[in-house]
Amino acid sequence: MGSHCAPLNLWQPYLFVWQTFTRFHLNHLVAVAKIRFLFEDKSIPEKTVVGDLEGRSILEITEEYDIHLSHNCGGVCACSTCHVYIEKGEEFLEEISEKEEDFIDRAINPRLESRLGCQCIILDNDADIVVTIPDQRRIIGHEH
Ligand code: FES
Repeated sequence: MGSHCAPLNLWQPYLFVWQTFTRFHLNHLVAVAKIRFLFEDKSIPEKTVVGDLEGRSILEITEEYDIHLSHNCGGVCACSTCHVYIEKGEEFLEEISEKEEDFIDRAINPRLESRLGCQCIILDNDADIVVTIPDQRRIIGHEH
């Protein structure tokens, strides 16, 4: 039986090298965006989303990955309930508009890093973004 398995054993080191090489190159050829979500509400553990996220908004991603972010106007830049803080990676997002700035002024605790999740479109799949989600319990109508 030992001699029967010998040819396969001989190939195993080469197979391993080939698999490692392929995996390395696939990882570097197919760019994937990464968003790390942190929460003001410390009872919620942080969550990282990795994938083909280009062209999608932070709000859409929170919806898809079951992350609670209010959106009372339905994502049309007409409220401030989808307010988030972009801690890192602002350059990977569509620029802020005057209308968005106006609504951010009405959000709870606006800061320099404030954005509206529904207006944060991810520009490319090299994005590496860190977002803090404000405590949703403070938002009226937060049951979305
Ligand atoms: S959901 Fe209303 S402004 Fe984003």
